[in-house]
Amino acid sequence: MNLKQLLDDKVTAAMSAAGIADANAVVKQAQRIEFGHYQANGIMGAAKKQKANPRELAEQVLDQLGDDHNLHLEVAGPGFINITLTSDFLADALQNLQNNQRLGIEERPSKVIVVDYSAPNLAKEMHIGHLRSTTIGDATVRILEFLGQEVIRANHVGDWGAQFGSLLAYMDQLATQGEKLSSELKDLEKFYQSASALFKSDETFAAKARRFVVKLQSGDEKCRALWKEFIAESTRHCQAVYDQLNITLTPDDIMPESAYNDALPAVVEELEQRELLVESDGAKCVFLDEFKGKDGKPLPAIVQKSDGGYPYMATDLAAVRYRTNSLNAHEVLYFVGAQQLLHLRQVFAVATAGGYITNNQRFRHLPIGWVLKSDGTPFKTRDGADVKLIDVLDEAIDRAYKLVDEKNPDLSPEDKNNVANVIGIGAVKYAELSKNRVTDYIFDWDTMLSFEGNTAPYLQYAYTRIRSIFRRENILQKEITGEFHLTEKTETQLAVKLLQFSEAIDGVIEDYQANILCNYLFDLAGIFMSFYEACPVLKASEPHRTSRLLLCDLTARTLHKGLDLLGIETVEQM
Ligand code: ARG
Repeated sequence: MNLKQLLDDKVTAAMSAAGIADANAVVKQAQRIEFGHYQANGIMGAAKKQKANPRELAEQVLDQLGDDHNLHLEVAGPGFINITLTSDFLADALQNLQNNQRLGIEERPSKVIVVDYSAPNLAKEMHIGHLRSTTIGDATVRILEFLGQEVIRANHVGDWGAQFGSLLAYMDQLATQGEKLSSELKDLEKFYQSASALFKSDETFAAKARRFVVKLQSGDEKCRALWKEFIAESTRHCQAVYDQLNITLTPDDIMPESAYNDALPAVVEELEQRELLVESDGAKCVFLDEFKGKDGKPLPAIVQKSDGGYPYMATDLAAVRYRTNSLNAHEVLYFVGAQQLLHLRQVFAVATAGGYITNNQRFRHLPIGWVLKSDGTPFKTRDGADVKLIDVLDEAIDRAYKLVDEKNPDLSPEDKNNVANVIGIGAVKYAELSKNRVTDYIFDWDTMLSFEGNTAPYLQYAYTRIRSIFRRENILQKEITGEFHLTEKTETQLAVKLLQFSEAIDGVIEDYQANILCNYLFDLAGIFMSFYEACPVLKASEPHRTSRLLLCDLTARTLHKGLDLLGIETVEQM
């Protein structure tokens, strides 16, 4: 049950009955629900429109709301309606929530939603820049699946194109020198750097690299075999990162650029048939009015280069075509860096003009900002190389281990390792998830690993604290039965917050901002702490003891589910 929705519906009906036009819009405009008060403050605007006295209009709405013993209604100020949710109302609603496995989050009518996220370039190892698209995309698929959507994960990895020429040429060279490739490929980053260095310094090597690109693309067997070996190794690297990060992507979710290879000529042909193609400097381009360069000149979307090669644009058009025609997607979400804004706008526009996207299919780019160092510069190593993601994760776990060791030296080494893993990985992921995804953010170990503030360790710790209440007296959560009795202010506050979980989830998927759920969980944990300070639980007399245990249980379940939807694990003890 969504508390806000429930009240919105009630108020909308009353407004319509009181003669307010377009009550739906009036209600949507401005409602707040906080700490047991629901304020309907759109009435003044509506009154002005229909030249009515706002207080009188509010009184009429109030009359229509009728007598509900569980709601305390009043007209306030120049024409607000305040609805105070009484303890009985909240207790009732909580009882429903308590009995609801899904914590009030209803499934939605099922749609096919393709989520394009992570998508590293396989020529190199995953680096820290991939963290945001990967974690936010993965939280999104978890939430959408929980909402009953048919989610298709599309890991659009870069496994094709010119950069593979030097890699293959280098593999070939090492193989002829008798080196063991498998050991050389262990550090893909080094491998990539050595191959690129050779490409720059050695003209014979560069020529060979260029030949290898052509050979690869024309299906030469030896080149294909080398390429396959490289891609297999690189995919293993990615999967190791996903497993370590508790990301739901598997090798089956890889829909690489190369998979669209055979469809590229058809895309060009179809655009040609629609008379969208214009030749410019030998390249085939689409010019659409909405794209102009800084100088006001039309900006091309190049679908085939003058040498016959197909650029990134063409592959993305083929991917759109596949996602709508073959996957029957209703919606496609792209969690891709903000620097690809123009590229994806062009992809969607050309695909629409080409008839690949129709009216009822929704394509959305959800831009992702940069990860920066504390001095505001891009996150790179001292010599300017990308920071390998796997190294970041190892460091996170090491740092978390030290914290766990300090906090609870008596844990067994095995438990310490487990807790360090859960905290370290949780901290790194939460740091991404808890920010607006569009804005750049500064990666800072001390902030993200702190047990205070809006961090994973804080929430994970709050969860263990609640669980310890139950452990202390060997109470099984399943076995508490009884009713809610809310008398203290902090109890009411906690009740309202618990009832707003589904609202937070709605908030996330409106614009795919996971930070809305993070903020919700952080607020919930904070309100729980105030409740726990003000209200004894185990020592309270009945019926309060049971009621408070039920509140504790619901809070623990909500924190657990919320973190789970974000892809963050919890432990029972830390
Ligand atoms: N591989 C690309 C990169 O590393 C991201 C791909 C995003 N998805 C897409 N359909 N273009 O920049």
